[in-house]
Amino acid sequence: MPWAELPDDELAPNMAQWYWRCRANFTKESWTLLLGVWHEDELLGVQDIGAKNFHTLKTVSTGSWLKRSAQGQGFGKEMRAAVVSYAFDYLDAEVAESEAAVWNQQSLGVSTALGYELNGIFRDGWGEKVETVQRVHLTPTTFKRPTWTLKVQGHEGLKTYLKLQGS
Ligand SMILES: CC(C)(COP(=O)(O)OP(=O)(O)OC[C@H]1O[C@@H](n2cnc3c(N)ncnc32)[C@H](O)[C@@H]1OP(=O)(O)O)[C@@H](O)C(=O)NCCC(=O)NCCS
Repeated sequence: MPWAELPDDELAPNMAQWYWRCRANFTKESWTLLLGVWHEDELLGVQDIGAKNFHTLKTVSTGSWLKRSAQGQGFGKEMRAAVVSYAFDYLDAEVAESEAAVWNQQSLGVSTALGYELNGIFRDGWGEKVETVQRVHLTPTTFKRPTWTLKVQGHEGLKTYLKLQGS
């Protein structure tokens, strides 16, 4: 993503502003939930899940980021499986979407491993670069569920805030 290529002195404030913006703009119709990924007390990366017009579309989208030393060990698959399980089982989402540059085999590898289906490509401008981006799409029926059971804390607060019915 273009933001990842910012110089070091701009990356941190840019990231902080993105986090503040997401929190400030969090409404029941349009929201981004920003989660951290820890392993043995070490922060490895971030996993977000978000939606627009959620009550009508019941569709979430996700984004993932792991530091380099944590990549390629299965964490990416586990963290995406966790938020998608949360979306389907707790938020009653009907579709989970994601996208990645066509060359990003790690991200698309996570999608394939979890049962996502290809959902078209589009051309996007990342700064001055043109990228071909692959969209992917998952439903509860096609989701290749993990063998572990998701443990969730704090759902009641989100459910109340988003005014969700049911679970
Ligand atoms: C994308 C990212 C989150 C993936 O996480 P990861 O921990 O590296 O990936 P995993 O180890 O969980 O791999 C998941 C699956 O992808 C497959 N995979 C990983 N790298 C692959 C590659 N280069 N080619 C093909 N498949 C690959 C794995 O085999 C695995 O599938 P399997 O369980 O069926 O064997 C991580 O690499 C990352 O943060 N990259 C930089 C940021 C980024 O690109 N974010 C996504 C932006 S859209």
